[in-house]
Amino acid sequence: MAHKIAKRADVAPFIVMDVMRAAAARDAAAKDASGKSVHLEVGQPGTPAPRLVREAAKRAIDNDKLGYTLALGIPELRQAIARHYKNWYGIDLPWERVCVTVGSSGAFLLAFLAAFDAGDRVALADPGYPAYRNILKALDCVPVGLAAEARTKFQPDPASLDETLAGLIVASPANPTGSMLAPGDLKALVETCRKKGIRLVSDEIYHGVVYENRAQTQTALSYGDDMFVVNSFSKYFSMTGWRLGWLIVPPDLVRAVECLAQNLFISPPTLAQHAAIAAFDATEELESHVRNYRANRDYLLAELPKAGFAEFAPPDGAFYLYCDVGHMTNDSAEFCRRMLDEAGVAATPGKDFDPLRGHRTMRFSFAGTFADMQEAAARLKAWRK
Ligand SMILES: Cc1ncc(COP(=O)(O)O)c(C=O)c1O
Repeated sequence: MAHKIAKRADVAPFIVMDVMRAAAARDAAAKDASGKSVHLEVGQPGTPAPRLVREAAKRAIDNDKLGYTLALGIPELRQAIARHYKNWYGIDLPWERVCVTVGSSGAFLLAFLAAFDAGDRVALADPGYPAYRNILKALDCVPVGLAAEARTKFQPDPASLDETLAGLIVASPANPTGSMLAPGDLKALVETCRKKGIRLVSDEIYHGVVYENRAQTQTALSYGDDMFVVNSFSKYFSMTGWRLGWLIVPPDLVRAVECLAQNLFISPPTLAQHAAIAAFDATEELESHVRNYRANRDYLLAELPKAGFAEFAPPDGAFYLYCDVGHMTNDSAEFCRRMLDEAGVAATPGKDFDPLRGHRTMRFSFAGTFADMQEAAARLKAWRK
């Protein structure tokens, strides 16, 4: 008799990872550098972890046992994260509420398990980061897409929230649009959620990677302690493969999250934890990355229109350009496939981010090198001639 496959396993692919696989296969078959793809698909820095982090990792390998840690992480790192909230946002955060996680991906799993039951409706903006929806589905929760528009900077509108929702996920800057909530709008969302009993999960992974009105970057923690705040060492701190993030937990859920973390992960990666403490001292190096992203962004905003890509969501932060390609195709997945095959430029089709309207959008990541941006723009201009 055939074995059962769980309905929960019927999760959509994370399409960007599939694009990465296709581009890698193309690269493996390439005879020389001109046959290799330019990678604008994946949202990861082209830089390694900061020098101070790498040095701290070497010291930890030589001097530490590197066994399991406490499930919520080593106190030194949790305290360093709490200090970061004081330094960046002027907030006094008790370090006991900091849970170190396996990337922000691990933080979502813990937050969703602690706050939502099977069948609970959780709202998120479309377009948005695909794993929110896919993790919720794997947990038998019901993702509720809110079709967001340029008018609201592709962010959820408080007017569309009602008491039937158990949760709301918000990200500012957002992936894939890079757009940010206008000042005051995050506060309005927090207050609406509080009034209607909706648990807010604020994904702040792109904080620091901000180009416009940087001083106005807000953390949801400025407006109370009843929400989850998710962040990570992957983006601003340039440490994707170290698989380290964090979750700021509402006081009443700390013990629940600790028990979940003990059982699901035992502990986050120990070597990465020891090394990451130094990330908060690497400001000079990390700020130079942000200057490079800005140069990449400005270059693409000037050059891509010459290849016919001209309608972008406001790229306030993160390292993405989300582009309407409806005048070139009605099937952006096929368009991206052809772009990879014919022009050798890998980018991500909008379907990954917006199930309804993504057939006419796509995302370019500009987290790579300036040389990559130049090569991509040259190839796309030649392709679209
Ligand atoms: C908005 C957003 N949240 C979370 C993640 C997950 O990152 P990580 O698990 O590496 O922290 C990503 C990765 O691209 C992202 O774009």
